[in-house]
Amino acid sequence: PQPRPQSRPLPKAELHLHIEGTLEPELAFALAARNGVELPYRDTEELRAAYRFSDLQSFLDLYYGLMAVLRTAEDFTELADAYLARAAAQGVRHAEIFFDPQAHTARGVPLGTVVEGLGAALDRSEERHGVSTRLIMCFLRDESAESALATLEAARPYLDRITGVGLDSAEVGHPPAKFREVYEAAAALGLRRVAHAGEEGPAAYVREALDVLGVERIDHGLRSMEDPELVSRLVRDRVPLTLCPLSNVRLRAVDTLADHPLPSMLAAGLVVTVNSDDPAYFGGYVGDNFDAVRATLGLSPDQLRLLARNSFEASFLDDDEPRRAR
Ligand code: HPA
Ligand code: ZN
Repeated sequence: PQPRPQSRPLPKAELHLHIEGTLEPELAFALAARNGVELPYRDTEELRAAYRFSDLQSFLDLYYGLMAVLRTAEDFTELADAYLARAAAQGVRHAEIFFDPQAHTARGVPLGTVVEGLGAALDRSEERHGVSTRLIMCFLRDESAESALATLEAARPYLDRITGVGLDSAEVGHPPAKFREVYEAAAALGLRRVAHAGEEGPAAYVREALDVLGVERIDHGLRSMEDPELVSRLVRDRVPLTLCPLSNVRLRAVDTLADHPLPSMLAAGLVVTVNSDDPAYFGGYVGDNFDAVRATLGLSPDQLRLLARNSFEASFLDDDEPRRAR
């Protein structure tokens, strides 16, 4: 049964959200028609029926494929505007939004088109949706370190719109250390640093992201729980983990939502937050994730408020501008 939504959603920040993962089947078909792109699905039902993921890679294959419909700046504006409207309705007051530049430049869509398109929606987000925003550019870890460096270089004209860098895509076999140089360059440019780690990859990747890449937050970080010493360090240093419970179920990082380690992570004193990851694919936006963990894991009102408080503490609100080197 669907959890009953809260009548007045808790104000919260969303810190782990891939804008490409907000592409709903209806918008995908509308953009495909507008751009003359042929999709390998007859209709939205057939597309939704294809969302049977067995792991991260099977999801990524579909996710990168569907991006073919995103061609113009206007497409990216519509995509981001639709996300911000849905997020606002679920209590999001601040969103730190990932995008995957290489997934677009590889298809011939220029980086400027992506950033300006997203930027147009973000520029009017506070006024239109009451949501403040930041943009975080992710490197695809299954691409080369050279490609990541070239992407950072190509982003230089747009750095006034970009708060930080992240690392996503296929994790196992692509340890954080592969990206040492590009993270050093990003830090020198005054960019904030985060990375996906410990989703499918081991706890050692979480350590490496902290030690080698100097990240301030860990995206997912689920498998940190396998390393008690790492947990102590994350607690001591108040390193936030951006958890995505419904994503973890759909990508089989946990067996069922009832098995999710969120309650033990809270009990351990970790600064955890709840986020949606790729809401169009994983069965819900951030409020839906809150509702699901409340209903299935039996979180108390105090615990839900703590998650919301953590999301603002873990955000790059307020304290990012002074750190910018420019
Ligand atoms: N993990 C890694 N890469 C991703 C994800 C994820 O959950 N979503 C979009 N790209
Ligand atoms: Zn993610």
